[in-house]
Amino acid sequence: MVKDRKKRLLYSEEIIDRRVKELADTLSHDYKGKDVVIVCVLKGAFIFLADLTRYLGISYVVDFVRLRSYGSQSESSGIVTVTKDIEVSVEGRDVIILEDIVDTGTTLVYLRDMLEKRNPASLKICTLIDKKERRLVEIDADYVGFDLDEGFVVGYGLDFDERFRCLPSVYLIEE
Ligand code: XMP
Ligand code: MG
Repeated sequence: MVKDRKKRLLYSEEIIDRRVKELADTLSHDYKGKDVVIVCVLKGAFIFLADLTRYLGISYVVDFVRLRSYGSQSESSGIVTVTKDIEVSVEGRDVIILEDIVDTGTTLVYLRDMLEKRNPASLKICTLIDKKERRLVEIDADYVGFDLDEGFVVGYGLDFDERFRCLPSVYLIEE
């Protein structure tokens, strides 16, 4: 049972805040003067979105998508469906997908392909955490907060069966 497992602090509130600000500064530079649509992948990226956007020095609109990847709580199966689509048009606009974590990459490949078909001017991926250990499909995030070699993490939007999502820091669940 995960609720009985120990959690080890991985990224503290302060470390996350510093890194999110750095990412926001980079994005503000790269997207100056562009017609930006930030697509937040629910639920996991909502805290990242809230913090990142408040540091951005550019104009943008935010929209939300919710995807479901069938499988167990800690493993995605590869079958992805959209349970909530975005509502704005991305045609001719500069899209940034905001994710909490890229794991196998299946979810993101699905979303990227879906949005590409809507003819955005550009489409990039920004993820808080890039976990390459279990990558099954080829996909690289353009903006990465933290690289993680392995492990299951919770906090700062990331959950295990809806638990731990609102912890301000990120923790590694110990085996
Ligand atoms: P894929 O495998 O498609 O899945 O890249 C990405 C989604 O899987 C979830 N995920 C995690 N959630 N801690 C979590 O709380 C983790 O370590 C973790 N690894 C994958 C997450 O929903 C992510 O969007
Ligand atoms: Mg997610």
